Amino acid sequence: MILYFSATGNTEFIAKEIAKRLDDECLNLLERIKNDDHAILHSEKPFIICAPVYVCEMPRFMSKYLREQNFTGSKDVYFIFTSGGYCGISGILAKSMFKKKKMNYHGHAEVTMPRNYVANDSYPMLEKQEVEERITKAYQELDTITESIRTGGKLTARHVFLFETLITVPFNPIWCKYKLTAKEFHVKDSCIGCGKCAKLCPLNNIKMKHKKPIWHNQCTHCMACIGNCPTEAIEYGTITKEKERYNFGKYRYVIKNLKKNQK
Ligand SMILES: Cc1cc2nc3c(=O)[nH]c(=O)nc-3n(C[C@H](O)[C@H](O)[C@H](O)COP(=O)(O)O)c2cc1C
Ligand code: SF4
Ligand code: SF4
Repeated sequence: MILYFSATGNTEFIAKEIAKRLDDECLNLLERIKNDDHAILHSEKPFIICAPVYVCEMPRFMSKYLREQNFTGSKDVYFIFTSGGYCGISGILAKSMFKKKKMNYHGHAEVTMPRNYVANDSYPMLEKQEVEERITKAYQELDTITESIRTGGKLTARHVFLFETLITVPFNPIWCKYKLTAKEFHVKDSCIGCGKCAKLCPLNNIKMKHKKPIWHNQCTHCMACIGNCPTEAIEYGTITKEKERYNFGKYRYVIKNLKKNQK
């Protein structure tokens, strides 16, 4: 069973491709996370958990959800992380979480995808050509990853140095507390009141009032709201002005073209 969370489509694309190749079921965890729904997850095949990386680890709301979740059937678990190029200590934390659950951690893969963090100037968005190249490379890497899982092998990723853990563990909560706030989100007149932003927020941080979204204080900067708004009506302070919103859906043609050329 493939489980995933994805704010702007990168991880969803990877999860669905793996499910297709392994002929396995694929479950989006969004509704479960939003509703704190911990109905048992059962699979006779390994659990393959796909997550984006936020500030060098898997999203904290996702690790909290997985920590509290019961898994039955297979004892085997794999992780696939998608990031903008640096997964930090994501694998170490995932391994430790699933060891505590007495499950067999078979390693993780790190797939570099386009950056989606439009509301942060320290992570410049990529040029179209680089976005296309990253998606192409990721798609090609999936054969090796799925073959390892199919044959019951281990996934191996780069070595993580001790200093990375020593820096990330204390740094991450401070960064999240002070930097990941929703205070700067606002909407332009082009908002059509569709409510998609509220529906997609994993933390239920957006409420609709008089057909306009209102942001509250639980935000993790996942970019689901701003990255999926159909009219691109959401801004974050002045950082996002005139900036292209990232969403994997805009680049689906890259995969279509690859498949066409493979025929
Ligand atoms: C809040 C936030 C923090 C991020 N931190 C990192 C990071 O530490 N390292 C990295 O390489 N990419 C980072 N990224 C980029 C995402 O991990 C990457 O674009 C991911 O593929 C997005 O997945 P999604 O489209 O499934 O949501 C960050 C993105 C966001 C929104
Ligand atoms: S997704 Fe966009 S258009 Fe729809 S309610 Fe939210 S801000 Fe408005
Ligand atoms: S309000 Fe924050 S947590 Fe919710 S969708 Fe927007 S960026 Fe993500």
